[in-house]
Amino acid sequence: MTRILMVCLGNICRSPMADGLLRRKVKENKLDVFVDSAGTANYHSGSKPDERMCLTAKNNQTPIDDLKARQFTTSDFDNFDVIYAMDSENYKNILKLSNTEENKKKVKLFLNELYPAENQGVPDPYYGTLADFQSVYDLLDKATDVVLTKIKNGTIR
Ligand code: 4NP
Repeated sequence: MTRILMVCLGNICRSPMADGLLRRKVKENKLDVFVDSAGTANYHSGSKPDERMCLTAKNNQTPIDDLKARQFTTSDFDNFDVIYAMDSENYKNILKLSNTEENKKKVKLFLNELYPAENQGVPDPYYGTLADFQSVYDLLDKATDVVLTKIKNGTIR
């Protein structure tokens, strides 16, 4: 089983949406993949995703109301094969917690799957409008499609 972790700052906007999208797609494709998400910060631990992200998710047939925020921990390095950071700040903060080369290799910038080597980040919609949440959804939908194809090809690593 492949285990994939999505990570952002608060684990209430970007990473739960990436998590929900990939969970839905692996389920639809009956793939043996475990998906979860976490935040590098603990401000929102135990909370449901942001209500604007939940609304956008529901409007796009990918509900995420059942998810709960948690903070990233060093044990995630042992429990996951691939750790996707939503932006470069999160990427740096995850790398700071890794203490082996093997762990460091698991950490990737998520949008490099969609736009290879561009090191783009998923924009943080927290202080934005509902339209910004939809843009984030659209971006995550495209990027999770690429990840899904890699899972099917056996080229996820
Ligand atoms: P996320 O968005 O990292 O995509 O979950 C944020 C959520 C909360 C905050 C910042 C970003 N905050 O400052 O509380």
